[in-house]
Formats: sequence, C-alpha cells, structure tokens
Amino acid sequence: MAAIVARLDGVSLQYGERVILRNCSLDIVEGAITCIIGLSGAGKSTILRLIDGLRRPDAGHVYLREHDICHMPERELNEIRRKVSLSFQFAALLDSLTVGENVALPLREHTRLHDDAIRKIVLDALESVGLGSTYDNMPSELSGGMLKRAGFARAIVTRPELVLYDEPTTGLDPIVTHLITDTIVRLRNKLNGTAVVISHDLQSIYMMADYVAMLFEGAIIAYGTVDEIRTSSNPLVQQFLEGSEVGPIPI
Ligand SMILES: Nc1ncnc2c1ncn2[C@@H]1O[C@H](COP(=O)(O)OP(=O)(O)OP(=O)(O)O)[C@@H](O)[C@H]1O
Ligand SMILES: [Mg+2]
Repeated sequence: MAAIVARLDGVSLQYGERVILRNCSLDIVEGAITCIIGLSGAGKSTILRLIDGLRRPDAGHVYLREHDICHMPERELNEIRRKVSLSFQFAALLDSLTVGENVALPLREHTRLHDDAIRKIVLDALESVGLGSTYDNMPSELSGGMLKRAGFARAIVTRPELVLYDEPTTGLDPIVTHLITDTIVRLRNKLNGTAVVISHDLQSIYMMADYVAMLFEGAIIAYGTVDEIRTSSNPLVQQFLEGSEVGPIPI
C-alpha cells in the first residue's frame, strides 16, 4: 500500500461563527497528484494552509508523515515544514530582484550553500520549468505564465517532498494552462515527490490527477481516481462536474 505523506483526520475549523471544515478527513498518497475540487469559498485553500502548518485546526489532527503537527512546538514544526512547499494562489516574485535571485531566496534562507552551488541549483530549477534562459531577467520582463512557472521553480528549489499548488492555472489561457499542468506533472516526476493541486480547471485535472477529492460543506464527500470521480453516481459530484445549476448543490 502506498505511504501517506499528509493526513487530515477529523479536522474541524471555523472562522468566527462560520464553520469551514467539519470532521474533514483526507489522505494524501505518496507519489500521487491529488486534486481538490469544490465551490469557491468551500475551504480548499484552508486545507493547504492546514497541511503546511500555517493554521491549526479547532479539532482533529493534521499529520505530516507520522508527525501530528497540530500540537508541535514552532521550532520542530518549522523543521518538518521544510519538506513542504506551498505555491500560493497569488504568488509573486519580488520586482527588485532578478528571476534567478528570486528563485534562490529559499536556498539563501535555509542553506549555507555558496553562490556557485546556488547558481547551479537555481539554473536547474529554472530549466525544469522551461525557463533556463530567464536567469538574469527581471520579473517585469516575463509573461503571466512564465511568472507562474518561475514561482514553481522557487517552490521546488529546495526539493520538497510535497508541493501544494493553489489554483496554478486560474486566469491563464488554454495553451499556458496546458503548459503549467504539464510542468506540475514533470516536477512531480523530477522530485519523485507528491503534489496537491487546487483547481477549477477540469481539463487540467483530468490530465494530471491521480486522485480527485471533492470538498463540500466542510468535508470530503468524494474521493477516487479521475475515472472513478467522472463516473461517480454521487449527484453532488455529477452536478459539480457538469457545472449545472440544477441539482442538490444550493446556488
Ligand atoms: N483569515 C480568515 N478569516 C475569516 N474568514 C476567512 C479567513 N480565511 C478564509 N476565510 C473564509 O473561509 C472560507 C473558506 O476560505 P478558503 O480560502 O479556504 O476557500 P476556497 O475554497 O479556497 O475558495 P476559493 O475557491 O474562492 O479560493 C471563505 O468563506 C473565506 O471567506
Ligand atoms: Mg482558495
């Protein structure tokens, strides 16, 4: 059986009075790309923040490997969090630094590598997202899709075990979306790692996902391979995939 890299176990979380997650459980399987789908505001980004230890749940447990990170002291948590990388929905490069310098930032922060070694690793990371020639460019010289990929290079430059992508293709044209989706798959293969991707783009999900999890009203109500999800008899899943106004999902 495949190992579990991250696990939400009966997690509940609310913001003020508003319940976002209610007894929510999800296993992230090692080596797989797991896509999380669900309505806007359902709590998808919140799940990534829980896995990355940026938020703690009100109840339940969050595990990275065998470590329960919910009650872990900050210092120990920071150590474990190095193996996880979150690529934010609106990840931005710093305008005042070159692309290469931006991608190097996590290495400068977390390692004592020399400039030559850093340059080599950064170039390799940029090449793996098809941006080898942009090392000396300023971010303002890159297109939106290139900036996204440069953000990915920065997210994977420390070779994390688990990469979390929050809406990596939102707002991009179909061709760039295809390229970004392909890049996520290639990075997973290169790192021999695991990825969680939040996406609203069904084409892209069908292309990359090993598993799909649907979040609805605070819990994962469906989980399976792309084929299992597409042929699911769950009316919530069918309505969501069809984008229909008619069905059990309140509009
Ligand atoms: N720090 C916060 N304080 C209060 N409410 C918050 C906070 N962060 C998120 N929320 C609310 O919690 C709900 C879930 O947010 P979250 O960002 O996880 O949703 P999402 O599924 O990622 O949505 P989207 O598809 O729009 O990105 C939303 O209604 C949001 O407004
Ligand atoms: Mg979100």
